Amino acid sequence: MNVISTIAQLREVVLHAKKQQQTIGLVPTMGYLHDGHLTLAANARQENELVVMSIFVNPTQFGPNEDFESYPRDLARDTKLAQSAGVDIIFAPSVEEMYPHDGGIRIRAGRQAELLCGASRPGHFDGVLQVVAKLFHLVQPDRAYFGQKDAQQVAIIQTMVRDYNFPVELRIVPVVREEDGLAKSSRNIYLSPLDRSQAPAIQQALQLAKRELQETQDVKKALALATKLIEKNTDGKIDYLAILAYPDLTEVTPETEQILLAAAVYIGTTRLIDNVIFSLKGEIAHV
Ligand code: PAF
Repeated sequence: MNVISTIAQLREVVLHAKKQQQTIGLVPTMGYLHDGHLTLAANARQENELVVMSIFVNPTQFGPNEDFESYPRDLARDTKLAQSAGVDIIFAPSVEEMYPHDGGIRIRAGRQAELLCGASRPGHFDGVLQVVAKLFHLVQPDRAYFGQKDAQQVAIIQTMVRDYNFPVELRIVPVVREEDGLAKSSRNIYLSPLDRSQAPAIQQALQLAKRELQETQDVKKALALATKLIEKNTDGKIDYLAILAYPDLTEVTPETEQILLAAAVYIGTTRLIDNVIFSLKGEIAHV
């Protein structure tokens, strides 16, 4: 496995692979790898001849008061883990390498970015699209791998790929969880032991709401039950709990094919997100 940090090196790798007619799988990450990332890499390994993983804590997707500086970084550890998952190339550029100029041109995520995480993180998804578009141009992957845990991110990237004709197939990999149901996340290391013991309540609340929706199709009741469970079992603060049509992120109607049940909750000072996506076609009575 090679670790490279410049765009010139990456271009050489990609040119070589294209000449050899190798398929390329891209796994974009911000590093501090956990099992979720390694599952993405393992999927990429199975389906492509060359697997490129990017490790880049992208400053343009962090707000001024967010954790860009303190976001966990450990390239040596990540290199070992990526190698064990079968990654061929790690692309770990510096901020200067990725953003040497600022010509002021921006990609704006649309309506899908105004709610859920976008409501409290203005500009976040614009930054995600900026770096993902650059990575797609640089790596020219046949397939790119993203986790369903970031369901809103996935929906917005799908829209960009569809509307701007990026020649890449998106592969969405289910959420990878700890044994007690907590979704794996690089930010879980911020949780104190008390926070960690409370954090699984988020997934429990989503499952409770899902069951309620399946039984009664009552969106309001499902949200109320989930809210109550989180309030009873954590000291956390709910940022949002929402039930929306997926991937459009519009209101659920009887025609909705896929339902997204999503939550963001501050457990201690750590903001955790999680979701479940499921189908209830034609059965939503009370929206
Ligand atoms: O999901 C992430 O880790 C990031 O948002 C991504 C897609 C790597 C872009 O920086």
